[in-house]
Amino acid sequence: MITWHENQDLTAANSFGLPVFAEHFVQVNQLTELVEALEQAEAKQWPVLILGGGSNLVLQPALPGAVIGIAAAGIHLLADDGDNVIVEAGAGENWHQFVRHLLQLGLHGLENLALIPGTVGAAPVQNIGAYGVEIADCLHSVIAYDRHAKSVVQLMAAECQLSYRDSLFKSQQPGRYIIWRVRFNLSTTFAPKLHYGALNQYLSQQGQDQPTPEQLVAAVCSVRASKLPDPATLGNAGSFFENPRVDASVYQALKQQFPDLVAYPEKNGQYKLAAGWLIDQAGWKGHRNGGVGVYDKQALVLVNLGGAEFVELMALAGDISASVKQRFGVSLQMEPRVYP
Ligand code: EPU
Repeated sequence: MITWHENQDLTAANSFGLPVFAEHFVQVNQLTELVEALEQAEAKQWPVLILGGGSNLVLQPALPGAVIGIAAAGIHLLADDGDNVIVEAGAGENWHQFVRHLLQLGLHGLENLALIPGTVGAAPVQNIGAYGVEIADCLHSVIAYDRHAKSVVQLMAAECQLSYRDSLFKSQQPGRYIIWRVRFNLSTTFAPKLHYGALNQYLSQQGQDQPTPEQLVAAVCSVRASKLPDPATLGNAGSFFENPRVDASVYQALKQQFPDLVAYPEKNGQYKLAAGWLIDQAGWKGHRNGGVGVYDKQALVLVNLGGAEFVELMALAGDISASVKQRFGVSLQMEPRVYP
């Protein structure tokens, strides 16, 4: 039996710290509770927002209908053939605690994703990635509740259609699947990926060219903390824009005009431009306007300077996009989800 909380304050439940109230809120620990909550919301024709760690959301002050917080817990080993191990984690588990837990278990593959805010269940939705690794590299499958079929399904990694900051859950079938458990392919052999520039430099400086798994996690945490604000002290939603992908011809023209342009070649021949560099060059780093601003160590991150409001945040995002478009001819896409 679930209990809805009316007019629930979710200001502390979104990492940007926007002032938000949900008309009806419930936290679910069991799948049966999730189904009950969904049935009741459907009967009342409430729109539904599924809430994980709230770290990739930009929320309007009043959320109509239902917000369902996912608290599915537990971490289990499902299969172990000596080298490859399948681990299952509940969608409500904290992502960073999960990464730390794997370190203790001696299971490898997700070290580079340490300290990413949010929950295990949210991780596949936007295919979280950092320092040369993304969830797609280790995802085995997702156990989800399918709201169309009204049944629990297992979606194998390929079916989840993960790509840069995107998935089936985000763009192809938004709202259809509610991720309840996530399974990962991990290894007892440590084969670290150390090629990402900032990580590589940091490890070299530490004299750790061949780091232990603990040293790698510590290095990722240090590099991350040096560039990205801790939401506990300065509200933010991580990268506020995706790194835009452009055709090679556009890249070549830009590179000629701006020789310092930072870009990475993609497998399909396109180039991914560093949005942080574009925004920085357009003069926004450290900009402040009322309760919102651009982080002074990483222009891709917008921050809550205190009392940030939805409208001023969206206005700042719009101004930044317009100025980048004017200067470089490149359109920026917001990375966090705006709701409703
Ligand atoms: N840069 C600047 N000025 C800035 C910010 C960046 O010149 O203000 C330059 C940097 O010097 C660097 C390049 O842009 O050469 C890339 O910067 P960084 O290494 O910080 O990575 P990013 O491309 O800005 C992406 C992800 C992050 C992830 C890091 C590390 C996206 C949208 N962001 O950022 O993910 O942690 O790489 O892998 O892909 C997130 O998605 O919320 C997130 C934090």
